[in-house]
Amino acid sequence: SSAACCDLILFGALGDLARRKLLPAMYQLEKSGLLHADARIIGVARDSLTDAAFKQQVLESLQQFMTKDPVDEEIWQRFVGKLQYCEIDLSDLSAYDALAKVAPLTKGRTPISYFATPPALFPLICDGLARVGLNQQPSRVVLEKPLGHDFKSSQKINNHVAQHFDESQIYRIDHYLGKETVLNLLALRFANSIFADHWSHNTIDHIQITAAEQVGVEGRWSYYDDAGQLRDMVQNHLLQVLSLIAMEPPSRLDTECIREEKLKVLRSLRPITDRNVDEDTVRGQYTKGFVGDKTAPGYLEEKGARQDSNTETFVALKTHIDNWRWSGVPFYLRTGKRMPQKRTEVVITFKRQPHNIFHETVAQLPPNRLIIRLQPDEGVEIQMMNKVPGLGKKMQLKPTTLDLSFYETFEDKRIADAYERLLLEAMQGNQYLFVSRDEVEYAWRWIDGIRAAWEQVAEGPRSYQAGTWGPSASVTLLAQDGREWDDDA
Ligand code: BG6
Repeated sequence: SSAACCDLILFGALGDLARRKLLPAMYQLEKSGLLHADARIIGVARDSLTDAAFKQQVLESLQQFMTKDPVDEEIWQRFVGKLQYCEIDLSDLSAYDALAKVAPLTKGRTPISYFATPPALFPLICDGLARVGLNQQPSRVVLEKPLGHDFKSSQKINNHVAQHFDESQIYRIDHYLGKETVLNLLALRFANSIFADHWSHNTIDHIQITAAEQVGVEGRWSYYDDAGQLRDMVQNHLLQVLSLIAMEPPSRLDTECIREEKLKVLRSLRPITDRNVDEDTVRGQYTKGFVGDKTAPGYLEEKGARQDSNTETFVALKTHIDNWRWSGVPFYLRTGKRMPQKRTEVVITFKRQPHNIFHETVAQLPPNRLIIRLQPDEGVEIQMMNKVPGLGKKMQLKPTTLDLSFYETFEDKRIADAYERLLLEAMQGNQYLFVSRDEVEYAWRWIDGIRAAWEQVAEGPRSYQAGTWGPSASVTLLAQDGREWDDDA
């Protein structure tokens, strides 16, 4: 259903995120008929621009970033009518009066302020909005990452926002929660009894979550260097995926129930401390190599690099969820830049058969695996053993794959970008795909523990060549438990 009538107030409207993701997402919502006819998108930035110049810039961004989908004249005409520009120096409180003139709090219109700016500005923007009453119900705010760089700083941001907005008005983005296949985890787990009833230590041996990227730091070395892969990917995206995989069945598909269950998972993560950090984590930093068929510079040779940086661009770790369901089941997480391929997947490995009646042909039966491919090539795969057809003295078995590719199964469906879904949910007032304050803070505490432990140990990140699956210690992490990563895609 289309969203209610909203004013999307886009702070940082000329920035990278807005141009690359948010404006194209709003255009797609227009195209799908999901924007209210009277909705408005009010771009806010410091530059002095006329409405017409802003509209022209938006058009150029759409042309530049919607490469697969050329801008359609008729849709653009509908879309451009919703665009407006408002020049504000975000650090000047009195400047927000101008915004209140363009978008006053009006009955029947919901102002949604989207903070696509550096987080250092969040407190100022909140104060500015509050000054002109744009924090009053039914106003909402959408916050982009990073929400702090540790527990303390995230608490500070959350406290400041909470001075002006109630938790029910705050939408914290983790764009992984808007991905089609991440949502499909819910369908897979809770709409299929073959999975729902086999989702615990009784049948599952271990779980792997991989988010491999081919890209490097993409021209934002100094931002990235302050963060590192643990903060940039694990604290948010990987832990969110992990929570959805591991949570108890929520009693309803609503914000409160889902958040509650996810939070319980985060609270049950076994801490990594200086006692187990060496054994259970691997840090890496890439050196020069080949990704695909292109040479890639090493991390320390990237533009703007500081030579003595020991920021990690790769992390692999083992953790446990200390509760009844997952007792004894390790979760292995791995993410890195400059890997051989872009691949995000969850691999559930089931326990082996207790007894092998086929030992004459197969010395050891491989375990069944359920692979959930989040991106690219979204789909679900089950690896199982099958008889090779034919006659003969001995029965021949072979590992085979049941493969459900979303593109083939739902050919006529377009897979929407995460931001389309999240913007739509925010406009509809649904918070279940947004991260609660408690989740952010528990995730940070766990991450802070790892960072503190890393600081205790002498060794920094190990190097790995760009275009490989990380330092060899990552293989050892599983090998020491008699397991291996699912690498053969
Ligand atoms: C962002 C990180 O949150 O997620 C980036 O800051 C990373 O470093 C990106 O590349 C990955 O997102 P996706 O959707 O391409 O998997």
